[in-house]
Amino acid sequence: MGLFGRMIVGVLPITPKFLVRWVSKRYVAGRDLDSAISAMKKLGEKEGCCFTIDVLGEDISTLAEANYFLTIYEQVIDAIVSQGIDANISIKPTAFGLLIDEEVALANIQQLLEKAARHGMFVRLDMEDHRVTQSTIDIVLKMHEIGLKNIGVVLQARLFRTLDDIKSICSSLQGDADIRICKGIYLEPSEIAHTEYRAINTGYSEALSMMLKNNSYCAIATHDKPVVSDALLQLKEKEMGVGISDPRDGARQTGDDKGPGYEFQMLLGVRGDMRRRLLKQGHKVRVYVPFGEKWYEYSIRRLRENPDIAWHVAKSFMMPWSR
Ligand code: FDA
Repeated sequence: MGLFGRMIVGVLPITPKFLVRWVSKRYVAGRDLDSAISAMKKLGEKEGCCFTIDVLGEDISTLAEANYFLTIYEQVIDAIVSQGIDANISIKPTAFGLLIDEEVALANIQQLLEKAARHGMFVRLDMEDHRVTQSTIDIVLKMHEIGLKNIGVVLQARLFRTLDDIKSICSSLQGDADIRICKGIYLEPSEIAHTEYRAINTGYSEALSMMLKNNSYCAIATHDKPVVSDALLQLKEKEMGVGISDPRDGARQTGDDKGPGYEFQMLLGVRGDMRRRLLKQGHKVRVYVPFGEKWYEYSIRRLRENPDIAWHVAKSFMMPWSR
């Protein structure tokens, strides 16, 4: 698997752009907002899932670029509202300037959050690599401090620090904590992160258990069957599940756009069979829908960051029912 992925990454520089586009079409809704809206409408009507939208792009080099993201995300919010789609937004703090000027990034995110709050919409800060883990968490805590509670964070099961992060976020935000737990796409160094499949899955299970125990809303983002099975088991032990309102005393993240204390989340175009099964069982499932001009950079960068993705992509083309 590792070798296949590395081979693919090796030939990327000479891979024709049309081929990358053909592959990425399945994972990226399109170049513009209209494509994202129509992809969501189609899938939502067909399957009954809800969505979170991501405008492709991150780690900008000038603060002027942050204005582009601010404007386009404002348009995304307006479109979600006017089209009546069950969706929220996922944003990358570095696209708002986090690695250039933290204060500016904070002000940009606050402006967007205030607009989302006026429409009762939730905003998720995606988690990027370890350089910004703490500053991303700090943004969420600061926004809650000033009364903007429609924001949550993502934590990565592969990072050693994650259990401590869950404890401290939940202790600060109490029942208002809303955490998306994922394995983590960035291949972090072994000094700070698990690097093996089993250890990452154990980390995931422990992180979810800690979130459940500490009254966090649990966004369970994975396509891995054993991880989903473990999550379903943990939910059952907590007497949480389809049609049961969240029984945890201290949990406060509720609303029409939320599941009963938890939801599953999956990427567009990935493991559709599993997504449909969970939906059929009645679970809330949110699909992460990326769109944007930067589809090429996004696809190449993801493959470079984690060559195993190339293997997953190849496998899923051989198994079309999993779309
Ligand atoms: P794993 O990688 O073991 O994959 C399990 C199976 O899923 C594979 O065997 C394959 O069948 C399928 N699969 C997984 N990825 C695939 C792909 N790209 N194409 C085709 N098949 C694939 N990461 C991060 O660092 N910060 C973040 O903010 C987020 N946000 C996020 C949101 C949502 C909704 C999801 C689902 C994921 C993320 N991630 C993320 C990515 C996450 O950290 C992780 O890299 C991927 O979800 C893959 O991990 P799995 O848990 O799916 O397991």
